[in-house]
Amino acid sequence: MPPAPVDRLLLGITGGIAAYKTAELVRLLVGQGNEVDVVMTEAARQFVTPVTLQAVSGRPVWHDPWDPRVPNNMAHIELTRDKGLVLVAPASADFIAKLANGLCDDLLSTLCLARDCPLAVAPAMNRQMWENPATRRNIQRLLDDGIEVWGPAAGDQACGEVGMGRMLEPTQLAERVARAFTPKTLNGLRVLVTAGPTFERIDAVRAITNLSSGKMGYAIARAAWEAGAEVTLISGPTALVPPPVARIAQVSSAQEMLAAVNAFVPDADIFVSVAAVADYHVLNPSDQKIKKDAHILTLELAPNPDILASVSALADPPFCVGFAAESENLDEFAEAKRRRKNLPLLAANFVQTAFGADDNALVLFDDDGRHPLPRASKLEQARMLVAHIARLYQPR
Ligand code: PMT
Repeated sequence: MPPAPVDRLLLGITGGIAAYKTAELVRLLVGQGNEVDVVMTEAARQFVTPVTLQAVSGRPVWHDPWDPRVPNNMAHIELTRDKGLVLVAPASADFIAKLANGLCDDLLSTLCLARDCPLAVAPAMNRQMWENPATRRNIQRLLDDGIEVWGPAAGDQACGEVGMGRMLEPTQLAERVARAFTPKTLNGLRVLVTAGPTFERIDAVRAITNLSSGKMGYAIARAAWEAGAEVTLISGPTALVPPPVARIAQVSSAQEMLAAVNAFVPDADIFVSVAAVADYHVLNPSDQKIKKDAHILTLELAPNPDILASVSALADPPFCVGFAAESENLDEFAEAKRRRKNLPLLAANFVQTAFGADDNALVLFDDDGRHPLPRASKLEQARMLVAHIARLYQPR
């Protein structure tokens, strides 16, 4: 098999205390398959050493514009020519001011001006510096020039003050890099995803629920976001960190999930129903904790609405993607479910290996037949599913 294409980026580090987080950032980027060349300013080298960045990137680290290791001595040109992105993190107020004015008095500022690929900056500075009208003007000029500004976040600052100016965390920057390298196959589309289990109350402390962790649904929300969609995630109870999507609605029962879906579905182009919705709810849940005074406790259960079926039956439905969790006869049961619910696409998986796991092996069913995906992490599965959706989707 030919080697997978590598997403190459250049990470510029400027002088700020958040520079200490860049070692972790590089480790995450390399872990997600990026090749990372690091360029440091003189001030950055006061906060973190080139040796550290060289160790975690596995590549030479640059800072001298006259470095003789670069062909033609043209580091400011050569270092970006094979890159898909330049990210400056942390980007100090001083460096942002330089970028805004086209100054180039060191290797990093010069290569930013000479680059022919997208540029993103992750500002990090004291809150007063961030609020200063000069910085506000400079940031606006960067945005006008098509430079992406990632963050900053608010919170505790190294100087002891609290406010806007914290660099985004390495995990947040790494996920934005992944997005930057993803083809925007769902650009401009609005995607609605349900994820996780539902929770049907029996009494004040007990419930009927299931083993869905939400990982598959959250991964699909993230993959759709990476592909440029505006994503709304409706989530049952999970312990997961939410992906950076446009909006998240937390719900508990199937009825609440149905209400949330009904609220958002009129604006959705695509609906992906990943949630493991409980098929029944308790007819008369108790507000109090039920006492253990009966040997046999009888619960009356009534069926829950089928959310996916109700959406696909709309007069003008979004492109509906269903899931099927089966313990046997995967192909037969999944295809029957797809036809019964009138779905253009359905992803099937075995309950024994899908619930709670970090990886999955989906089998996709559409009008052209059966398309098994190779076992992979749920995020990789989600990216393959999103690519398949993008191929099938026809605007309404
Ligand atoms: O959350 P994880 O731990 O990552 O696990 C992922 C998963 C196994 C939960 C996921 O991959 C999956 O299979 N989700 C669908 C689970 C399910 O409820 O399957 P089903 O065959 O019972 O339902 C068929 C379809 O109808 C599903 O799209 C479901 O969302 C939908 N449905 C079901 C019942 C109901 N009342 N309303 C619905 O909308």
